[in-house]
Amino acid sequence: MNILLLGAGGFIGVNLTERLLKDGGHQLTAVDISEDKLEHLLDAPGLNYAHLDISTDEAKIEELVKVADVVVDLVAFANPALYVEDPVGVYDLNFTQNLKVVDQCRKHDKRLVQFSTCEVYGLTAAKAFGLDSKENPCPFNEDETPLIMGPIKNHRWIYACAKQLLERVLHAYRHRDGFRYSIIRPFNFVGPRIDYLPSEAGGGNPRVFSHFMDSLLYGTKPMQLVDGGEVFRAYTYIDDAVDCIVRVIENKKGNCDGEIFNVGQPENELTIAELAERMRDVFDKHFRQEGDPPRPEIVSISSEEFYGAGYEDCDRRIADVTKAKTLLDWKPQYDIDQVIFKTMEYFVDEHRKKQANGTVASAVAAV
Ligand code: NAD
Ligand code: UGA
Repeated sequence: MNILLLGAGGFIGVNLTERLLKDGGHQLTAVDISEDKLEHLLDAPGLNYAHLDISTDEAKIEELVKVADVVVDLVAFANPALYVEDPVGVYDLNFTQNLKVVDQCRKHDKRLVQFSTCEVYGLTAAKAFGLDSKENPCPFNEDETPLIMGPIKNHRWIYACAKQLLERVLHAYRHRDGFRYSIIRPFNFVGPRIDYLPSEAGGGNPRVFSHFMDSLLYGTKPMQLVDGGEVFRAYTYIDDAVDCIVRVIENKKGNCDGEIFNVGQPENELTIAELAERMRDVFDKHFRQEGDPPRPEIVSISSEEFYGAGYEDCDRRIADVTKAKTLLDWKPQYDIDQVIFKTMEYFVDEHRKKQANGTVASAVAAV
């Protein structure tokens, strides 16, 4: 197949590109505005890379869409800090610019695999009705669960709303014109090449695993639990996720068109406070070396202080993955201990390499 991967230079994109290249048998075109994470793949046979912006390079993107068998759209702002800082930018990229890709696929009758998010489910019904979601676990089902967003003043929800509206537009085009699409709703993937460490990037506010790794490896700040870290997340190892995504892209049984797939590992649930404790223990047991900073403290911080006004958290999100199991014969393999260990191993290996070639000291000095 000729596969066009938009946003291939991101965390999911680079892991997906690696896997598709390893499998072989496909012609891949990778598009992004940043190639840092793809550098090790740029000369791989079977891969063409194009540095293009979906917002401004429409004509060039359209040429690539025309010759593709399937278009995979991963482009988005996907970091909660940005939903609070720049809600207009999030709406523009995640809805308006992505809609242009949808229109090109419609024009040239191409199948689209669109990345959405588990955040489209929003709050649990328990939370929305003032019940305790800990006592009312309720897996999110793609085709049945209502989607519950918080108030407009909490602009964090613009990410989920933009993604939800895009999903609804895809459905509407299928309903009217038979447009061929599949939607992926990822549930907290982690693994190699997830976000940067703030101490190395000179600041920034990445997703939680990177923040906690930063505290463990650099010790410049404690592990901070936003509003006490009481909410739940269920983490999915990137290799499990990619295995499911490849099945959707290849669509070997021809049963993915018009389908939304939750991609997650519902058994890997913990609170963010538990994640911090577990990461600290795993680091001490398996990775700590002489010269590392002391075991970091775990402290609480208000969401207003951490993100600014406009943040509201998802209380709990458990994926019902029956559809992916039934239609794709997919089952996630990695339990939460393996997910934490393997992702941490990646960060520690990268850090030790930097220590060996002397770039850690300058990274710390620059902070
Ligand atoms: P990411 O930020 O690592 O990757 C997004 C990529 O899009 C980046 O490489 C970025 O450079 C690229 N990009 C941004 N603007 C662009 C533009 N104008 N033109 C071309 N490329 C552009 O994010 P990710 O974690 O890999 O997520 C990929 C997709 O999956 C996103 O749509 C995200 O919303 C969704 N998602 C991811 C997760 C997760 O667990 N990682 C969870 C839910 C949803
Ligand atoms: C993120 C993004 O919204 C999306 O990329 C995606 O839809 C989703 O992950 C996903 O991966 O499925 P979220 O899980 O809220 O959502 O992202 P994180 O920034 O990793 O935050 C997880 C939790 O940790 C939140 O409760 C957050 O408040 C908390 N947090 C974050 C801390 O307690 N401390 C930190 O230092 C950072």
